[in-house]
Amino acid sequence: MADQPQNHARHVAIIMDGNGRWAKKRHLPRALGHREGGEAVRRTVKACEKLGVECLTLYAFSSENWKRDEEEIGDLMLLMRRFIEANLDDMVKQGVKLKIIGDYKAFAPDIVEKLEYALAKTAGGVRTLAVALNYGSQQEIARAAAKAAEHGAITPETIAANLDTADLPPLDLLIRTSGEVRLSNFLLWQAAYAEMIFMDVLWPDFGEEHLQAALDEFAKRERRYGGR
Ligand code: IPE
Ligand code: IPE
Ligand code: MG
Repeated sequence: MADQPQNHARHVAIIMDGNGRWAKKRHLPRALGHREGGEAVRRTVKACEKLGVECLTLYAFSSENWKRDEEEIGDLMLLMRRFIEANLDDMVKQGVKLKIIGDYKAFAPDIVEKLEYALAKTAGGVRTLAVALNYGSQQEIARAAAKAAEHGAITPETIAANLDTADLPPLDLLIRTSGEVRLSNFLLWQAAYAEMIFMDVLWPDFGEEHLQAALDEFAKRERRYGGR
């Protein structure tokens, strides 16, 4: 946005972690933690509009999450179907343009269909919500390198141009909730010079005040990109 200061984050990514622990603390099934996680997604997308974040990338399902038991995967898939149905109209109204990174075509055909319908419906949006689905950064980089090789030299530029995120602004700020301090195969390439903030809040409790706090902290950071 033209009127934003230099130290304003255009592109924020979040590793939405802690749904299971949120549920466990309340003696609830994990599925309810994931459901509340969906509410936090709604709040955060709204907060991005209010706080002027142009692009939000959310890690929703990793390529390693298939290791979870069938029941939990089934719950997550059900929630995904419901989330799209319940939120698509609001997304269109809010001017959100959906994007998916990762190999989402591996999901059930009806989910692929719903996702593609949502992509088409939101194509005219002005702010991007990129959702990482069946996403693994190492796989993404390998795919990008293979594509780059088809057309010539493999260089940082040609790899970057073939990443799923090629059309997104550079990543400014990466947030992980739940207190874990690792990237878990998320945006490894894109995070080269991103600022990182690890927050103790569990994802279902995340909201505008947490995003605001992270943006305030980001604004204080000095980014040097190797210079001085
Ligand atoms: C994040 O919450 C959601 C997904 C990975 C789908 P978790 O389910 O990983 O929650 P914890 O880490 O067990 O608390
Ligand atoms: C990362 O969280 C994936 C998502 C948030 C979707 P995990 O909970 O799967 O990561 P690990 O297993 O703790 O590294
Ligand atoms: Mg986790």
